[in-house]
Amino acid sequence: MPEKFSFALAATDGAARTGTISTPRGDIRTPAFMPVGTAATVKAMMPESVAATGADILLGNTYHLMLRPTAERIARLGGLHDFMNWQRPILTDSGGFQVMSLADLRKLTERGVTFRSHIDGSKHELTPERSMEIQRLLGSDIVMAFDECPALPADRDRIAESMALSMRWAARSRDAFGDRPGHALFGIQQGGLERDLREQSAEALRDIEFDGYAVGGLAVGEGQEAMFGVLDFAPAMLPQDKPRYLMGVGKPDDIVGAVKRGIDMMDCVLPSRSGRTGQAWTRRGQVNIKNARHQDDPRPLDEACTCPTCRGYSRAYLHHVFRAGEMISGMLLTWHNLHYYQELMSEMRAAISEARFAAWEASFHDLRAEGDI
Ligand code: GUN
Ligand code: ZN
Repeated sequence: MPEKFSFALAATDGAARTGTISTPRGDIRTPAFMPVGTAATVKAMMPESVAATGADILLGNTYHLMLRPTAERIARLGGLHDFMNWQRPILTDSGGFQVMSLADLRKLTERGVTFRSHIDGSKHELTPERSMEIQRLLGSDIVMAFDECPALPADRDRIAESMALSMRWAARSRDAFGDRPGHALFGIQQGGLERDLREQSAEALRDIEFDGYAVGGLAVGEGQEAMFGVLDFAPAMLPQDKPRYLMGVGKPDDIVGAVKRGIDMMDCVLPSRSGRTGQAWTRRGQVNIKNARHQDDPRPLDEACTCPTCRGYSRAYLHHVFRAGEMISGMLLTWHNLHYYQELMSEMRAAISEARFAAWEASFHDLRAEGDI
């Protein structure tokens, strides 16, 4: 295992890229999809099952873990990897974004943000320095800079001010992170849908110098067309020899469009969350297992899928256990969904390395257009 964190591009096809991020805890094949393990678990999945779907890295959350069970407790118990029994890389988000969407009585200042826990109402503060300390206590392999992100639509002044604050916090994050061989710190670009603000943000981050760069502030209500509009220019503003991470995205067609535009990493709760609400994602689009049309159907979710759910269980069974409220319902659908997402990434990596991404993308859209049959 390498001592250091590094990124090597292996091939490009148009703006799409494939490569490998090397860390002391293992390699991450890019483009990579990171399942979300917010509360030190990918809900309804054993960690070894998550690994079996093909995931190289998980995402964890500063905000949730600092509140429960606390970063200090996890550190005393040997860090997040041992605590949750996942020995491969972990990326942690820095908390500001989750405070803004989940916490009560938020107060934002230059110093940071104070808030009350959505769990028990207790009072807390997050600053760039405290976020770096928490992510160090967790033992995160890829640490995210502490940032702030306004919901869209927001007016230009609000977006510009918020971006400037996030860039000052990015510099403080870099100082507080220090020198930690084998661990990486990623900066987060903000600036809403505005090209000049995105460029100012990218320039500020490039000056500070990070190990990787995220595109933040998207998938916050702007819609796919507007998001792709930003992704047509934003990735090219970031250093080409460092990983580029699109935060909180998305549906399968969002992911394909992002990879096409030069994104290397993504995360989203969608495959795991929708598995627990009876939604499956397949090569032919979305399947709602609650629908009565499945109740006598002996076929699997997807005949071509090699996941344990599709190898062993019919749509009729999946429909039954969902309707009956059985725990295995969320387990089986989540496994399938995470497997499908990882298959998608694997297919894109192969297509990029063989310079046939455009043809692969056309067949991806054709199959979805046929729909679930
Ligand atoms: N998750 C989704 N979008 C964002 C963002 O802009 N910043 C952070 N920190 N996390 C995110
Ligand atoms: Zn399957």
